[in-house]
Amino acid sequence: MTAHTDPIPFDAGFAQDLHARYAQLRAAGPVHRLVNESGLPVWVVTRYDDARALLADPRLGKDAQTIFRLVMDRFAPGAERPDPSESEDGRFAGGGFDMHMLNMDPPDHSRLRKLVVKAFTARRIESLRPRIERISEELLTAMAGESEVDILDAFAFPLPIRVICELLGVDESRRDDFRRWTNQLLDDLDAEASVQAVGEMSKYLTELLAAKRENPGDDLLTALIEVSEDEDRLSESELISMVFLLLVAGHETTVNLIGNGILALLTNPDQFAALRANPDLVDGAVEEMLRFDGPLMHTTFRFTTEPITIGGTEIPAGEFVWAGLAAANRDPERFPDADSFDISRDTQGHLAFGHGIHFCLGAPLARMEAQIALRGLVAHFPDLTLATSAEELGRRNSSLIHGLRALPVRPAS
Ligand code: HEM
Repeated sequence: MTAHTDPIPFDAGFAQDLHARYAQLRAAGPVHRLVNESGLPVWVVTRYDDARALLADPRLGKDAQTIFRLVMDRFAPGAERPDPSESEDGRFAGGGFDMHMLNMDPPDHSRLRKLVVKAFTARRIESLRPRIERISEELLTAMAGESEVDILDAFAFPLPIRVICELLGVDESRRDDFRRWTNQLLDDLDAEASVQAVGEMSKYLTELLAAKRENPGDDLLTALIEVSEDEDRLSESELISMVFLLLVAGHETTVNLIGNGILALLTNPDQFAALRANPDLVDGAVEEMLRFDGPLMHTTFRFTTEPITIGGTEIPAGEFVWAGLAAANRDPERFPDADSFDISRDTQGHLAFGHGIHFCLGAPLARMEAQIALRGLVAHFPDLTLATSAEELGRRNSSLIHGLRALPVRPAS
């Protein structure tokens, strides 16, 4: 059985109305064929059990070379392909920062993940706590006295980028550049801006690595260089791609977890009141924010290496697939009363950080940041309210990130 023969456009309208669209699809069937704004067809899996199984299924691949080839086959069949033997690692994908673990299958993925896990330890993450608290306090204090402020701009954006720069050991003066680059890379779909961002970032990261080799610091970048030199197994392009991945994967996601989470609190005053009355509910609140309105609509692309059947629908080999994370997390079969925001509910098993071998490496850091941010926010601004009606808030025009364009609030009522 094929769920839909004509692909459904995954366009800006879809992004604006994500949960309602996903709810319709989930009710209509477990798998749907969409077409993204570049015209690329992709199957989306909408139900919790199927999405979880898909993410642990070794018949789905992620390696960038195959993805690149499949895209070329669709858009430029017969065009000349780059020769992998001419690249530094004997591999070639689409250029830029492609040599990272989210673009790889085992055994390459396992090798890179093992290396970064050695550097990105629980102790290193925990050691960031006082700095994150200080940054959060600084930003919240600066908001006091304002009658109205865009809390994305004043708080949700600057916090994660400053934390990532601390983590990596990036100079404070380059923070704004980093923010611009990650924005240009993720916001659809200005190819020219993203090529420019890749060029500028590449130049900066190369310089930064050279500087860290000269002057090692107590930061993740230095640790990654050390790990790669000890084991002699991380090439320069893998190292640069890894840093790029940490930056891009760790920034906009955390921003929009905080942003969407604040919106959920402000539009569910009983839940806000419960958190205010008992700030120790914050850990559960963050998990519910991830489930209810997490920052990713779906996973990154996977492709089928052989035909696979999901919920009675066969997806042929060589097709792109997304696990619809936001759809799975609101599947009423898994989460009763899934469309209601309840910070005390059992959220165990939500898929906001993915599942399987590519499960988010930064989840402990993201959780810690969001918990600190929300605890601080509730303490500083117990009377926080929206400065506009929730219906007027627009969503970002991205096909991956589920976030708000702005979130105007009144810090004190
Ligand atoms: C992978 C979500 C924050 C680093 C992933 C994946 C998801 C995800 C869903 C898997 C994607 C897929 O399978 O296609 C999130 C969310 C975050 C967040 C919701 C914040 C709320 C972070 C942070 C970092 C980070 C702060 C690092 C500083 C990574 C890396 C991977 C990854 C390195 C790739 C892991 C691999 O391929 O093995 N993330 N992420 N993420 N994330 Fe996160």
